[in-house]
Amino acid sequence: MTETLRTTPLRVAVLGAGTVGSEVLRLLAEQQEDLAQRIGAPLEVIGVAVRDLDRDRGPHVDRALLTEDADSLVERADLVVEVMGGLEPARSLLLRALGNGASVVTANKALLAADGAALYQAADDHGVDLHFEAAVAGAIPLVRPIRESLAGDRIERVLGIVNGTTNFVLDLMTRSGAGFDDALALAQEKGFAEADPTADVEGLDAAAKASILASLAFHTRVGIQDVHCEGITRVRAEDIAAATRMGRVIKLLSIVERVEGPEGERVSARVYPALLPASHPLSSVAEAYNAVFVEADAAGSLMFYGQGAGGAPTASAVLGDLVAVARQRVHGGKGPGESSYAELPIAPIDTLRTANYLSLTVHDRPGVLAEIAGILSAHGISISTLHQEPLLSDAALPEEGEQRARIGIVTHRAEESAVREACERLEATDAVISLDSRLRVEGD
Ligand code: NDP
Ligand code: HSE
Repeated sequence: MTETLRTTPLRVAVLGAGTVGSEVLRLLAEQQEDLAQRIGAPLEVIGVAVRDLDRDRGPHVDRALLTEDADSLVERADLVVEVMGGLEPARSLLLRALGNGASVVTANKALLAADGAALYQAADDHGVDLHFEAAVAGAIPLVRPIRESLAGDRIERVLGIVNGTTNFVLDLMTRSGAGFDDALALAQEKGFAEADPTADVEGLDAAAKASILASLAFHTRVGIQDVHCEGITRVRAEDIAAATRMGRVIKLLSIVERVEGPEGERVSARVYPALLPASHPLSSVAEAYNAVFVEADAAGSLMFYGQGAGGAPTASAVLGDLVAVARQRVHGGKGPGESSYAELPIAPIDTLRTANYLSLTVHDRPGVLAEIAGILSAHGISISTLHQEPLLSDAALPEEGEQRARIGIVTHRAEESAVREACERLEATDAVISLDSRLRVEGD
């Protein structure tokens, strides 16, 4: 049966026509008829805000729609799609749009992690929708399942790979021995990386996504400042080689979970590169793919997998949201708003217990291992495995007559503060020339 279509189109403003925006515009043009049927009204793109009117944007971007005046564009729209990125002017434009009664679809995780509460509030105040499926894990439906499908369950933990660029870089370094800079340049060329790729490689993009996931999963406001964040810039080729020898793979993980302690229930949110067993399902996630486990009391463990970055995959998620907010416009009603009633406190990283891989260049002389074991033991850290590793290729040459060795130690779980203090003691002791790496070990 064909439903009657509303003839007045819904006016759509698109902010940004870069990697994601140009694919959004392509899909909007190619699927115009189908989208109208699915929504119950046609969509009309009334303008596309960009910085540079002269840049070539391919065949799907109608040059006549381009404007540098984003402010007046959002004033005229029923629905605003924000794919420009950055905090400003995106924040002001979206607040203006919501205040004006337009629903918003955004892929901007940095903005949501920095100021999501203000956007939710504006949407609530004006009875409109704020959707952001594309902000976490590209094409993978993850926000809606957590926000809606699992709204009746109790989520304990969300763990996974949510940054395509770093996964692409680590994967290429592991599989082909490519250097960090070459791998990152390729990720940028493919459109996976942020405008400033520092956000990817320093873990900030994954931290923004972790903050969004934690807020949704635990009904608690978790800002990016609440997420412990370490990126991949200190991961060396030698660490990847050592991981391979140990039957492990290094991945940048985002982990958000409920933790119980003497203070009651708290939320831990953290991003760091970690060694996973090669047999772990996340270890085989290649290229810019993302994969996320959601563990809930009643549902058990759910795995989400797919393309985590790139123009077309991300545009798919944007279009899904656009259809959802457009349907609400046509049929009435409003989607879910912010849910932050639980107000759980944040667990500082120092209170967690983690297993660690430490690699040390040491003097090769009697008593060195005993001294290192003594320092670890004094901090309550027990050694799981210890092995010899090749010396670093870029290490300073030893002085004449000096013997050096490099050792890798995997510890059992210990409190983070104890591991941090032990590392400081190790670096200060005469036996140790350098503490070359410290990486968490997960998934055992
Ligand atoms: P790009 O840098 O490729 O595109 C940004 C677009 O926004 C450009 O067209 C740019 O204009 C426009 N723009 C930027 N600032 C302004 C401004 N002040 N006024 C007007 N227009 C502006 O970014 P992406 O498409 O890669 O990313 C867009 C958003 O989507 C970001 O929030 C990003 O985090 C998110 N995202 C990206 C993914 C990806 O794989 N790339 C995946 C998931 C989310 P001009 O072209 O003239 O410079
Ligand atoms: N720069 C991001 C990434 C884009 O590499 O995952 C997708 O959010």
